[in-house]
This record gives sequence, structure tokens and C-alpha cells, in this order.
Amino acid sequence: MENRALQPIGIFDSGIGGLTVAHAIQRALPCERMIYFGDTAHLPYGDKSEAAIQAYSIKIADVLLKMNCKVIVIACNSASSAAYNLLREYVGKRAHIINVIDPMVSLVSQRFKNKRVGLIGTKRTVQSNVYAQKLEALDQGITLHQLATPLLVHMIEEGFFDNRISHDIIDQYLSDPSLQNIDALILACTHYPLIKAEISAYYHERVAVLDSSEAVATSLLNYLEEEHLRNTIPNPQHQFLVSDYTESFEASTRLFFGEVVHLEKHRLWE
Ligand code: DGL
Repeated sequence: MENRALQPIGIFDSGIGGLTVAHAIQRALPCERMIYFGDTAHLPYGDKSEAAIQAYSIKIADVLLKMNCKVIVIACNSASSAAYNLLREYVGKRAHIINVIDPMVSLVSQRFKNKRVGLIGTKRTVQSNVYAQKLEALDQGITLHQLATPLLVHMIEEGFFDNRISHDIIDQYLSDPSLQNIDALILACTHYPLIKAEISAYYHERVAVLDSSEAVATSLLNYLEEEHLRNTIPNPQHQFLVSDYTESFEASTRLFFGEVVHLEKHRLWE
């Protein structure tokens, strides 16, 4: 095994929601060591400007590069839409960058040719129009209908899912005229896998509800295989860093990672 294979995978998000992606990566690649960075001091990214998200993303990439990551996964949709191109240029050959948008765009373009596809996400992700541009470039006759659903992040973080309040909010958003008669719905936000079952139930399972965490993990696996960079040493010791620590962030890791993980505070700016 090459030495580079032993280097960790960096994963970052605005907060702890990106642990849904880290969890999928752990399932697909149990021997990879993960260094997760949640920018809890600056969340939510979904309401921030593109320039602010780019500045935070560069700082986080510096931390992950210093920790010798071979790949950096941008687990956040808002950061993937605002900062992917810039980060790729900035990081260059030092690490491979994976975003959460391209694996989903390729899945949708293969499975939903000439169909109507809906998308829900943060304001930043929807305003960026990146999903629509990438789908258009592939020219598969897919029409994308997007709706910003900012309340959902707060609702989920407060533990409101699978109850009357979450049903009402989901109902209100999904009954928006822009999302009618769709064949599939892209969940373009780290947090939404937690309400995937509720959303599928809203559609009586008649609309394919797509979350990107597994597609991202598969794309990482394919890259590591192709480049002979898979780590095969079992029981990796992961690290979970946050730019601001609270007990409540730590308690919420259970929601997104399936178990409570210990968060270490790591300043972004000295
Ligand atoms: N992680 C963000 C995303 O996937 C959601 C939370 C936030 O707005 O920071 O877009």
C-alpha cells in the first residue's frame, strides 16, 4: 500500500449536518481515517454570501491540508455551490476535492432523462443555480424546479421531525406550485436525509426522493480505487473538529452520525 493511502480523508461542513455524509463514507470505506471539520462558529452557510463562504472554505482547507488529507470532501451543499471551483484552484495537486453536487447531478442525469425534477435546499444553494447549470450542460432534457426551504434546517436541528410540526412545515413547502408533478426530488442539503422518510410519505412513495450522501461516498470510493489510494488498515481513529464548541452541538451529533462523537474545538483564525 502506498504511503499516500494512509493519509486521512478531510470532510467539512458549516456545522454538524455534514456528519450524514461522513456516516455514509464510514459505511462505504470503514478503513479510511476521517478528519471532520464543522464550522459551527459561522453556521448557517445557507444564508451567507458567496464571498463569506469562500473565505471560510479556504481557511478550512488550510486546516485539512495541514493535517495531510489526501482528499477533501465538501459535505455542505451551500459550500459546494459557492466555493468548489475556487477550492479546486486553491488546493491544486495537494489534495483531490469532491463536492456533494456532481455525484447527484450524474445520478439524476442517468436516471431521469427528459423528466421534471424538483430540488429543495438553502437559499445559497438555490440562488447559485449550480445544479441547474450542471444538469443543463449534460443536455438530458431534465427540467429542474427549485425551492429554497430555509426553515427545514432549524426545524431538524431543534429535533422537530416525524411529528405534527414537521409534517405541517414539509406539507407547506412541498405543496408549493413550483414543485408539482415532479418525478424526483433532490434533497440538496446535509440535514434533509433525516426527513427523507417523511418526504417520501408525503408523496406516497410516488416520487423518488434522492439524498446525495451515498452517491458522494461511492464517488470517493471510485476515486480511491482508481488512484490506488484505499487504506486497508482497520479501526481508524477519526477526529471531529469544530470552530465553536457547545454541549448541544456534541449532543446533536447523534442525530446526524447515529452515535454521539466527541467534538474538539479548533480555531479557524488565530
Ligand atoms: N450544510 C448546509 C447545506 O448543506 C445546511 C446548513 C447551513 O445552512 O449551514 O447547505
